[in-house]
Amino acid sequence: MEKFLFAGLVLSLFLTANMAGQEETIKLPEAKKSGGMSLLEALNNRQSQRSFSSREISQQELSNLLWAAYGINREDGRRTAPSARNVQEFDIYLIMAKGWYKYDHEKHALMKMGSEDLRKYAGTQDYVATAPVNLIFVADHDRMTNYNQDDRVFYSAIDVGFISQNVYLFCASEGLATVVRGLVDREKLREVLNLRPSQHVILGQTVGYPE
Ligand SMILES: Cc1cc2nc3c(=O)[nH]c(=O)nc-3n(C[C@H](O)[C@H](O)[C@H](O)COP(=O)(O)O)c2cc1C
Repeated sequence: MEKFLFAGLVLSLFLTANMAGQEETIKLPEAKKSGGMSLLEALNNRQSQRSFSSREISQQELSNLLWAAYGINREDGRRTAPSARNVQEFDIYLIMAKGWYKYDHEKHALMKMGSEDLRKYAGTQDYVATAPVNLIFVADHDRMTNYNQDDRVFYSAIDVGFISQNVYLFCASEGLATVVRGLVDREKLREVLNLRPSQHVILGQTVGYPE
């Protein structure tokens, strides 16, 4: 009898873990890779905006945004943003009202990391806690194996700029508001995002519809 109970417990734990695993990954719709504003118009419209409507961003818009920011654009796995020695050291975390996620560029999916609304930790300025999406750019120094520590800091600070500018140009093209932010409590974010010691919060970027 005890054996049966034990086997039942193991089976139910296995099923729960498996179901939870299935719920954790949200496949995004295919990103739109053509159309939009001309590059020159987007450059002309690029700006930082700090007033955001509470209107949610649709899953299609999120898909397009993440692909534009740092998605795969070639068969060999290279991305829309360059990275020194193609190390691709960044992960994009998304902090939204309904939870927080990590962008899986290979599956073009969101991995749900938690259901809490962490927006109040996403930055130190007021608008951050109410805007629909905060992107957090996290560099993983473990991927930068052939660098010394100074170069890890130097190149990740450069590489993040390309990702951020992709977001700026995408938002300009789509009529979305955005601002990149150095004003983040990196230690607090490290704690709430449960980051490993090799992972470093470099910048945040808020995205939403303009107020
Ligand atoms: C690395 C970096 C960090 C920034 N940090 C913040 C920030 O923490 N908060 C903010 O409101 N704007 C921040 N900005 C946005 C700048 O204030 C903004 O780009 C600048 O005022 C020029 O305005 P523009 O982007 O509209 O041209 C940052 C910009 C950069 C490039």
